[in-house]
Amino acid sequence: MAHILDGKLLSAQVLEEVAREVEILKAERGVVPALAVILVGDDPASQVYVRNKAKRATEVGMLSIEYRFDADTSQEKLNKLILELNRDPTVHGILVQLPLPSHLSEDEVIAAIAPGKDVDGFHPQNVGALASGQPALVPCTPQGCMIMLQEVYEDLRGKSAVVVGRSNIVGKPMAMLLLQANCTVTIVHSHTVGIEEICRRADIVVAAVGRAGLVKSDWIKPGATVIDVGINEVYEEGRRKLRGDVDFQNVEPIAGAITPVPGGVGPMTIACLLLNTLKVAKEKSAFMKRNGLATEAM
Ligand code: GUN
Repeated sequence: MAHILDGKLLSAQVLEEVAREVEILKAERGVVPALAVILVGDDPASQVYVRNKAKRATEVGMLSIEYRFDADTSQEKLNKLILELNRDPTVHGILVQLPLPSHLSEDEVIAAIAPGKDVDGFHPQNVGALASGQPALVPCTPQGCMIMLQEVYEDLRGKSAVVVGRSNIVGKPMAMLLLQANCTVTIVHSHTVGIEEICRRADIVVAAVGRAGLVKSDWIKPGATVIDVGINEVYEEGRRKLRGDVDFQNVEPIAGAITPVPGGVGPMTIACLLLNTLKVAKEKSAFMKRNGLATEAM
């Protein structure tokens, strides 16, 4: 029986700490950390994610500003709003919910966000900084996975980790963070030969491909830690259910520790988004203080 890594509980602890620090920033510096979230179109999953992000931000005492655009909105309109938010000293974090409608360029939108306000950590400057071990805003989901892994291991040094999936949002930054923690890292993907065997040798398997139940029990070494990033909508017995990328029912008895879906990595992603927003607000406030500048207008 695996240890179940409870993302709800762990994220609540992180959020409690964020709320405490927000309170201190407000009291000592008059700064209210503010997160601007932009949603384009009416993708139902994105609407749920954006609603949850805004709700949690408000709960920890931050200011949440939501911008909604019709699905046929233009690139120019979106870029214009981002540039305004970049310039607005009262806004600390900017997030554009992905995916965007196909006529819009995600790369262009991400590049328009000021790297210092890029709380998703998707801007090429943050991607490069993470890859070269410099201070960066780190993508939220992989950051959340690392916090969960720290629940299992005091030290990740020398562990063999396999990341299943090579997306810019999860797979690649996840591999970078594991590497930074001195793991031996392998990324496997749709063209990899012998995925099962490679996974079977791993101490840690992080699944982030978006295929329900892909990772089976014979992919997992007994006692290994399994982190499931997938959130897939499936219909079972005529009912809508959320399933991860891992065949939880059959993997759980073999793994040493495992994240459930829902209630695993998902809540950690939002907690890390607010950690990043807090980080931006704290660093800006410290900069202003060092330079004798007032923060009332932030
Ligand atoms: N869509 C799926 N995951 C994410 C995320 O972490 N950030 C944004 N902006 N969009 C997403």
